[in-house]
Amino acid sequence: MRDCRIVLVEEVKLTDLVAPSVLTQPVYQPGRPIDDVARELGLDPTGIIKLASNENPLGTSPKALEAMRRAIEDSALYPDGGSVKLRARLGERHGVEPSQIVVGNGSNELLELLGHVFLRPGDEAVMGTSAFIVYKLVTLLFGATAVEVPLVNHLHDLDSMAAAITERTKMVFLPCPNNPTGTLNAAAEVRAWVEALMERVVVVLDEAYAEYLDETSDWTDYFAKGRKIVVLRTFSKIFGLAALRVGYAIATEEMAGRLQRVRQPFNVNAIGQAGALAALDDREWVERCRQENKAGLLQLAAGFEDLNLEYVPSVGNFILVRVGEGAKVFRDLQKLGVIVRPVDVYGLPEWIRVTVGTESQNGRLLTLLKDYQAARN
Ligand SMILES: Cc1ncc(COP(=O)(O)O)c(C=O)c1O
Repeated sequence: MRDCRIVLVEEVKLTDLVAPSVLTQPVYQPGRPIDDVARELGLDPTGIIKLASNENPLGTSPKALEAMRRAIEDSALYPDGGSVKLRARLGERHGVEPSQIVVGNGSNELLELLGHVFLRPGDEAVMGTSAFIVYKLVTLLFGATAVEVPLVNHLHDLDSMAAAITERTKMVFLPCPNNPTGTLNAAAEVRAWVEALMERVVVVLDEAYAEYLDETSDWTDYFAKGRKIVVLRTFSKIFGLAALRVGYAIATEEMAGRLQRVRQPFNVNAIGQAGALAALDDREWVERCRQENKAGLLQLAAGFEDLNLEYVPSVGNFILVRVGEGAKVFRDLQKLGVIVRPVDVYGLPEWIRVTVGTESQNGRLLTLLKDYQAARN
């Protein structure tokens, strides 16, 4: 038997072993689930509405539900690790080769894969101060520095972001549109900015809400020229598959290959892949959701105007409204069975973010805000 020569003089604390970036890593605060709130506040879950996570209030396409019911029968088998069928369909949809598509466990996973591939301690990533918070979380997780550039009138300040690029910058994040502000930089301005930056850094264009827009930019010519841009999309929003966790990246073949290398072999489950394929083809359903969202945005904006509440015009499926003490209003609305999102973590303590619901859900929120105002006056 070999002699064990390790002599422990002093117990090593767990914190001495943990990677330094993990010790200081902030924790993501998701929208609160209905059951959680019901348990905590003793409410009937069926009476609670959640307008907190930018989910689709109309649910999931019936065709996707049917495809997922069929797929669940094969649950004993591992999923297709390469998401081959889904990548082929997405390639057709976007006019690129399947080898240019990477499917992830939600687009959040793709953001993390970008971190794996590009970020090391000492590197920098540039983003807006009130941009989707996962850009910052991923940057910090890999020990890199998040360089945050203030938004101007709730819009990304592209010139200042370009000026913030140094020789240490690896990536720049631009959400199109942004969450939580719902704002979108003009297409021509974004194109010129991408053109100027992509020679030097990886430009990540996060298009999680693209399907709600009237028009989206076409980046295929940039991929064809081998440019360093990555476009992110998700099935969590208009496609109504947030629970299944399916997102994808479109990039050059070289970039996609790097991302493929660092993902788990079976990162996207089979039910999600089946649901995503069917949801993609259900164009009628997507169009209906898009139109209902537009009507809901108008309903909420008109309601906020009636209540004299400032709001930020949005092109997403959510809207920022200024209510005073956002965290308190969030708690008070929650007690009344409506879950919204406080946004102090985005430097917006006077605001809440409201996901566009169905007509009756939006109506309920507006009535509660009206009663709330009346009680305060
Ligand atoms: C701008 C933006 N990007 C990415 C995501 C992540 O979406 P998912 O991981 O569900 O695909 C979200 C989710 O809210 C988002 O708002």
